[in-house]
Amino acid sequence: MYVAVVGLGASLGDRAATLEAAVRLLDVWPGVRVLRASRVYWSAPAGGVAGAAFLNAAVRVETTLAPEALAEALRAIERRLGRRPARRWADRALDLDLLWISGRSVQTPALTVPHARLRERAFALIPLVEVAPEARDPRTGARYRDLPLAQARLPAVGTLPQPACPPRAPVVEQGATGDRTMKLFLDTANLDEIREGATWGLFDGVTTNPSLIAKEGKDFIATIYEIANIIDGPVSAETVATDAPTMIREGKLLAKVHPNVVVKVPLTIEGLKTCKALSSEGIRVNVTLCFQPAQALYAAKVGATYISPFVGRLDDVSEDGMDLISKIVQIYQNYPALQTQVLSASIRHPMHIVQSALAGADVCTAPFKVYKQLFSHPLTDKGNAAFLKDWESVPDRDIIGQVERWLAARTSRPSA
Ligand code: E4P
Repeated sequence: MYVAVVGLGASLGDRAATLEAAVRLLDVWPGVRVLRASRVYWSAPAGGVAGAAFLNAAVRVETTLAPEALAEALRAIERRLGRRPARRWADRALDLDLLWISGRSVQTPALTVPHARLRERAFALIPLVEVAPEARDPRTGARYRDLPLAQARLPAVGTLPQPACPPRAPVVEQGATGDRTMKLFLDTANLDEIREGATWGLFDGVTTNPSLIAKEGKDFIATIYEIANIIDGPVSAETVATDAPTMIREGKLLAKVHPNVVVKVPLTIEGLKTCKALSSEGIRVNVTLCFQPAQALYAAKVGATYISPFVGRLDDVSEDGMDLISKIVQIYQNYPALQTQVLSASIRHPMHIVQSALAGADVCTAPFKVYKQLFSHPLTDKGNAAFLKDWESVPDRDIIGQVERWLAARTSRPSA
């Protein structure tokens, strides 16, 4: 994990909207987290080729990606937001540059960090200093903020979306590094269950659906907002329109409720159109109601952050739900560029959690009751009862008092 600064520039189209979308995409990119965003600066075109003025900015990120992989992610985001090959200095929809990495320099045929012209470009240097005032040139040790160019005046014309607040836990996502973990989500809209679950320190997110919301009989948006404030992780909130334009509108609004919101859409043609539109703008999407491996391929191709295959509902109709999870995991592994995470859903009992982990699902979402069941193993209960019974024969059973006295004696002992 290291800190880096990415420079952003755009001179074509709706420049401010493109920069905003780039920040959102970067923030949800596997293995990357945006920590801070600079103001947006206006700058005249450089190099005498581009005709339009640029808007420039910078973001401070934390990442587990290798520098080359981060640079590749930046190229992918540029392409996704409409950048086409163009001459150097020419007008462009989006330019993303890896400007600086904390304490490191990189010199390979494909990548130079710090950026080769960082010290000559006020439009890169000024936003960089804003998000990383401590940044130094790793070769000379000189602070960038002390360079005369860093004091130049550039007109600030706007702001970028700031990262999720409160700060989220460091991102470790599928494909990012070898330290990938399995995430556990609560599949409920019941606030009492979510509050109690939060005290366990186990859960990474929450999934809801219209049926779970209806069961609680409370206001949808207030419930989602409350959940997002209890569990600091992705909270799926589902759209209910049946046509893509309205689903897209619902999704964009749901995403504004809280930075943790992940928009959930059904695996229909309209749902996938919605997924494509939202994910292209950096909004995370969970595609739900998946019952067939190729459906998961579709979802990944339109940029879904999560695919939700329903294990229990397949078992209910005498099909092998867990086989669906294994097949999707295999398909995604065959094509590492597919970054969608497999979210094993419709979990009915503890063994479904075990089997999901064995199959390599990235996430398992289960009802609170199922997670509780995992604690009740007869041998755990019997073993614990035996330990406590045996402890009764120990002469001094007050561990806290014993340790406190022992520590006090140790610290008051004169040193030799
Ligand atoms: C979660 O995202 C799903 O909506 C949920 O797991 C469905 O579970 P069910 O089949 O028990 O309704």
